[in-house]
Amino acid sequence: MQGVILHGGQGTRLRPLTHTGPKQLIKIAGKPVSQWVLEQLRDSGIHDIIIILGDNNPNKVVEYYGDGSSFGVNITYVYQGKARGLADAVYKVKDLITDDKFLVYLGDNIVPYDRFPSFLSFKGSASILLAKVDNPNRFGVAVIKDGKVVKLVEKPKEKISDLALVGVYAFTKEIFDVIENLKPSWRGELEITDAIQGLIDRGREVDYRIIDGWWKDTGTPKDILEANSFLLDRYAERKIEGEVRESSIDGRVVIEEGALVENSTIRGPAFIGKGSKIVNSYIGPFTSIGDNCEVKNSEIEYSVILDNVKVDGVSMMDSLIGNNSNVVKGKRWVKLIIGENSRVEI
Ligand code: DAU
Repeated sequence: MQGVILHGGQGTRLRPLTHTGPKQLIKIAGKPVSQWVLEQLRDSGIHDIIIILGDNNPNKVVEYYGDGSSFGVNITYVYQGKARGLADAVYKVKDLITDDKFLVYLGDNIVPYDRFPSFLSFKGSASILLAKVDNPNRFGVAVIKDGKVVKLVEKPKEKISDLALVGVYAFTKEIFDVIENLKPSWRGELEITDAIQGLIDRGREVDYRIIDGWWKDTGTPKDILEANSFLLDRYAERKIEGEVRESSIDGRVVIEEGALVENSTIRGPAFIGKGSKIVNSYIGPFTSIGDNCEVKNSEIEYSVILDNVKVDGVSMMDSLIGNNSNVVKGKRWVKLIIGENSRVEI
């Protein structure tokens, strides 16, 4: 059984974090978003993985995952390059699919769904996962009539359905025939939603499952913070491998190897990455600190701090700090060096 993970795209809504790499590599609760996806596929028995690369530092993805052996999977890479749409990306695996059916998972989505093998035994030519949303205009949506998918629209301007396409799809190889004849949408992309509509137009059946509960497209900073809270809440277990000196570690806290926590309080669920130092500080719940960070004299809650970040003398919450950043209390004036599209609240 093959699983295809989409790792391309622009990541514009996450700039400046995506200036130096694809959004799917942003670490949430200690792992890149796409690693949560990959491990979820692996744990449900899908070991043959194809990763589709975009043009934003694709080498970083290959460096991180390698041939997949250290993650317990086999990985084949396919280069899409410029983001020409989900259907364009899917078409790139045409010659690599060996079974009749295969699974496609958007590498920036977190979908707590573990019934992939049964999802692959669908009726008709494709199957989609759907979830009720309050803002259907941000997604592709499906109209269901008498238990059948009758219409799909990408980013609908009018409210025709509140059932959004969640980023997991199952296809037969027929999808490739439809994509060959697809025209770009108004946003200039080959839409997978239009390709599935193409199957319906050919009279084919499209199966569906509706999931309830939480899922997330991690396209914006707010989505990343929410996904961080969800993943820590659901998966963090107390594991203390680093050194703890004169500190209070409460609840489900992960302190990775080589980390040091001194004269501080850490309240779970929380994650402290490898080699990070937390000194004279309070790390509150739903916070992930990346690898090799230094946090001194600070309070941090409900935040995601990526790798190699220095924080000194600052109280922050609901914050997302990119790799290699410094956040330091000044004496009187605020001094800022901020990348484009940033947001600062002081
Ligand atoms: O999150 C679910 C939504 O994902 C669906 O409801 C929509 O129907 C679907 O079109 C998609 O919408 P987005 O506008 O959120 O797609 P985005 O551009 O964020 O791309 C989704 C993922 O696919 C992301 O991991 C980047 C990757 N991608 C995207 C494009 C356009 C590629 O690998 N190649 C591409 O060409």
